[in-house]
Amino acid sequence: MITQVLVLNGPNLGRLGKREPAVYGSATYDDLVELCRETGRKLSLHVDVRQTDSEGELIGWIHEAADALVPVVLNAGALTHYSHSLGDALKMRTAPLVEVHISNVAARAQAEPFRGVSVVTPAADGVIAGFGFLSYQLALQAIAELVAQTPATQTPATQTPATQDQTAQ
Ligand code: DQA
Repeated sequence: MITQVLVLNGPNLGRLGKREPAVYGSATYDDLVELCRETGRKLSLHVDVRQTDSEGELIGWIHEAADALVPVVLNAGALTHYSHSLGDALKMRTAPLVEVHISNVAARAQAEPFRGVSVVTPAADGVIAGFGFLSYQLALQAIAELVAQTPATQTPATQTPATQDQTAQ
């Protein structure tokens, strides 16, 4: 069985590569998608990576994950710091949730205090920040472990390789 996982990215993360390379690195969003899919394959996870600049669309995906019992790796970008609608949606989660950030938001909060607040953290199993794209790989590893620990009665969404949507890979 292969476990489905959603890797959700919020505003401006589609601009990786062009966006403040000194903070976020020079690798692109497409590089991130490929890395997440490759990491998923090694962990027997079917990873669906998405990005949106829209708060409403991101919340819709959180609802979708909750309804389907699908684990989520979430980098909500700046919405992390102020979107209480997103925080409320995350409280409805039904499967593991790991918050990720490419940069070390706690360290950046010294100069930019708004980055020290997260609406995601109270709903999350844990937070991984500051390791660049490695943050996503570590988060997927954590999801794989959390799913393995989940009692059979709460098994998250799975699919057999035969029914897997190859186009979404
Ligand atoms: C970020 C950190 C946020 O503070 C920022 O608004 C982002 C990216 C990160 O991945 O480091 O958009 O989530």
